[in-house]
Amino acid sequence: MTSPLVIAIDGPSGSGKSTVSRAVARELGLQYLDTGSMYRAMTWFMQDQHVDLDDPQEIAAYAKQAQILPSTNPDTPGIHVGPIDVSEPIRGENVTAGVSRVSAVPEVRALLVDLQREIAANAVNGIVAEGRDIGPVVLPNAKVKIFLTADETARAARRAAENGEDIQATQQQLARRDKADSTRKTSPLVQADDAVVVDTTDMTLEQVIERILNIVRGA
Ligand code: DC
Repeated sequence: MTSPLVIAIDGPSGSGKSTVSRAVARELGLQYLDTGSMYRAMTWFMQDQHVDLDDPQEIAAYAKQAQILPSTNPDTPGIHVGPIDVSEPIRGENVTAGVSRVSAVPEVRALLVDLQREIAANAVNGIVAEGRDIGPVVLPNAKVKIFLTADETARAARRAAENGEDIQATQQQLARRDKADSTRKTSPLVQADDAVVVDTTDMTLEQVIERILNIVRGA
């Protein structure tokens, strides 16, 4: 029996991580985990409970109560908090504006990292996990580690097109979130030393997927 294939894909917002990770998982018959959706679902839960997002202690106290249940099927991605399907609301402006504060709380990260490791350990054939700290922190033994990036304007243009939003406003929000995500104390967005960097600025989606499949084949 071969050991499960674990692929870690990290990078900032709008680098194309989700679409690419899902396509790679589908192509290789692996499970798929969008860890950003877990931080978003945790944020949705905090907002639903009227927790003050400027109070890390209150966030930490509520975090244990949240039952975060992501789908790991690349054909049917989505996420529940307990019985509630929050796949749509977690993409809304409210959650996006709060997620950096919630994901900076160490207790939240500890809980979700444990859950992410458990999900990966139970993926029989393997998994493509995407996020900000997968290669460096969550799954340091991943066979393949990719750091996907693209220049800020290209990332903003993609996000704006995805969500039907204004490019300039999207770029400002993206820059703010990148700054918060890369300067927080616990697990800031950093590149693993052993990650392969793929700059997608001038690449089509198909080219990025092909490039990653080639990296996997050569690993
Ligand atoms: O990938 P995304 O935009 O859905 O991620 C939402 C937020 O979650 C992002 O601002 C940073 C945080 N995040 C994180 O801190 N660690 C991860 N592994 C994934 C996401």
